[in-house]
Amino acid sequence: MVFSPVIPHHQIKRPVLWPEEFRRLAPLEVEIGFGLGEFLIRSAAAHPGRDYVGIEQHWERMHRTLERIAEMSGAGEPGSLRNVRVLKIDARAAFERLFVPETVDHVHCLFPCPWPKKGHVKHRLFSNTFLKLLNSRLKRGGGVTIVTDSAPYQAWIRRQLDATGFEPASRMVGPRYDTKFERKWHNEGHKEFHELVLTKTAHVAVPLKEDTPLQDYQLKEFDPKRFRFENQLGPVSVIFKEMLFDPVKDKAMVHLVVAEEEMTQHLWVAVVRRGKIWRVCKADGQSVLPTPGIARAIELVCEQARPPEARFARGDQGRGRT
Ligand SMILES: C[S@@+](CC[C@H](N)C(=O)[O-])C[C@H]1O[C@@H](n2cnc3c(N)ncnc32)[C@H](O)[C@@H]1O
Repeated sequence: MVFSPVIPHHQIKRPVLWPEEFRRLAPLEVEIGFGLGEFLIRSAAAHPGRDYVGIEQHWERMHRTLERIAEMSGAGEPGSLRNVRVLKIDARAAFERLFVPETVDHVHCLFPCPWPKKGHVKHRLFSNTFLKLLNSRLKRGGGVTIVTDSAPYQAWIRRQLDATGFEPASRMVGPRYDTKFERKWHNEGHKEFHELVLTKTAHVAVPLKEDTPLQDYQLKEFDPKRFRFENQLGPVSVIFKEMLFDPVKDKAMVHLVVAEEEMTQHLWVAVVRRGKIWRVCKADGQSVLPTPGIARAIELVCEQARPPEARFARGDQGRGRT
């Protein structure tokens, strides 16, 4: 079997049982936003007795990291880089759903996006909520290391620590991680960076997020020419992007963006003729996590795919489970 370090998190049973995945019980370290994978790969190679999970949401950087892992792993000979796995996912969703509480030894994040503009502060990753989530997944005595060139971001993270169960310690360090962004800031004149180490001193419980069951719907009628989708804005926002229709297959594909809590996902919903009825369901082959927002988006397509005159009439909509 060909070894692949990529975990297809949307296709497998969640949470991931990392000792089963790595086939051993070893200290587990996680790197958020590994970029080109330099630190992740170097750490895994230097510490064969520890297991490493890298999280990155940028596909191009993930791809370049996979190339480096493949180069280092050769043809899969013994001793190759077997203690590293990568996830292409938002770190918030990863820690919510893929890591069992109290199982991670250390989390690293080098040069997280500082979002310096005032209106963008809400995008910063290390919020009070996220720090509580990290705490819940760390073992007692575990910790988080964050390195940043941005003094305001470091100070902002320290202000997020209330009731997170972490004790902070910070210091200035010279370049020592040799990552793309460390080199970039160093070349631009930064001689030192802020290294913030958060040690877990008390446990904060944040339960694992469960999958939401996704329903199939049935319609008696569907006219793709008359289909209009009204965006929904609120705690769950569902934004229409486009609809494609194949008249040969009698199949429509509706592309939506679903934003909820701190997660944004792209979703394709299929509306496809099956005999006398039209089936509305999540299209196959997507890396989508089944959340309440995704369930609502499929339901909205069903509601809005019904002919306007039938929208308020009950009875032409059946439900089945996917
Ligand atoms: C400034 S770059 C730093 C990359 C690398 N650590 C380095 O030092 O060169 C920040 C990285 O974090 C990733 N990232 C940002 N937010 C993320 C999130 N919520 N989940 C996973 N990765 C994230 C970005 O895609 C980007 O690759």
